[in-house]
Amino acid sequence: MSPERAPLLRVAGLVKRFGGFRALDGVSFHVLPGEILGLVGPNGSGKTTCINVITGLYGPDAGSVQYEGRPIGGLPSHRLVHQGINRTFQVPKPFLTLTVRDNVAVAAAHGRRGGDLDQDALLASVELDAYADKPAAELNSVQQKMLDLARALATRPRLLCVDELAAGLNPAELDRVAGRLRELARSGIALLVVEHLMGFIDQVTDRVIVLNAGKEIFEGTLADAVRDERVVEVFLGAEHGT
Ligand SMILES: Nc1ncnc2c1ncn2[C@@H]1O[C@H](COP(=O)(O)OP(=O)(O)O)[C@@H](O)[C@H]1O
Ligand SMILES: [Mg+2]
Repeated sequence: MSPERAPLLRVAGLVKRFGGFRALDGVSFHVLPGEILGLVGPNGSGKTTCINVITGLYGPDAGSVQYEGRPIGGLPSHRLVHQGINRTFQVPKPFLTLTVRDNVAVAAAHGRRGGDLDQDALLASVELDAYADKPAAELNSVQQKMLDLARALATRPRLLCVDELAAGLNPAELDRVAGRLRELARSGIALLVVEHLMGFIDQVTDRVIVLNAGKEIFEGTLADAVRDERVVEVFLGAEHGT
């Protein structure tokens, strides 16, 4: 495999337990540089936990996480951010009393080194330039998500994990955010995108992994996923509350 197409991230047999419960029960996949991998599955299937383990919030109980061919499982988040792994949160928690600009500046100061970061351009790219000098507390929930994305990007990630960024966005905002994620991928960033909105997943991802109860039940294109019997069963079952 040529070096540029070698996986940036590879997880194998990942297990994460909470007490006796296995939130992740042997998950394996990889993400290439410049690729957008979707991670889908019903509520509680382990999507956020998967991001939490990859980004160092929790160490894995078993299995391995490799980044650029090196084991990183169990390293704390701040070290991983330095190495180029960052994420957005399902529920963003900006520093509410700091301005939008300062939230981004704080993140940038803790990010991967090298190169200049144009913070104004970054804020403009997530449509927060007009809010740069306002405290984050004044942003609505969609704007807080965009600030969370800007904060993650300010650390200059090479692997970006995105947790339900699209929830609550209107169709025009969805289109723009989808375009932005594709642009990031074109620049060589690898993205792991967790999302419930299948239209959005269809628009942005190259490939998807479907999780159910901490296990991966499908890997391939979304077009094939929706024709897969197990995937259909899991999603219809979830919709009917079984
Ligand atoms: N910190 C935690 N402590 C205990 N249980 C947790 C914790 N985080 C997640 N879980 C449980 O693990 C399962 C997977 O959660 P999560 O990864 O958040 O699912 P998803 O993001 O797919 O909705 C759920 O049953 C959830 O309640
Ligand atoms: Mg989640």
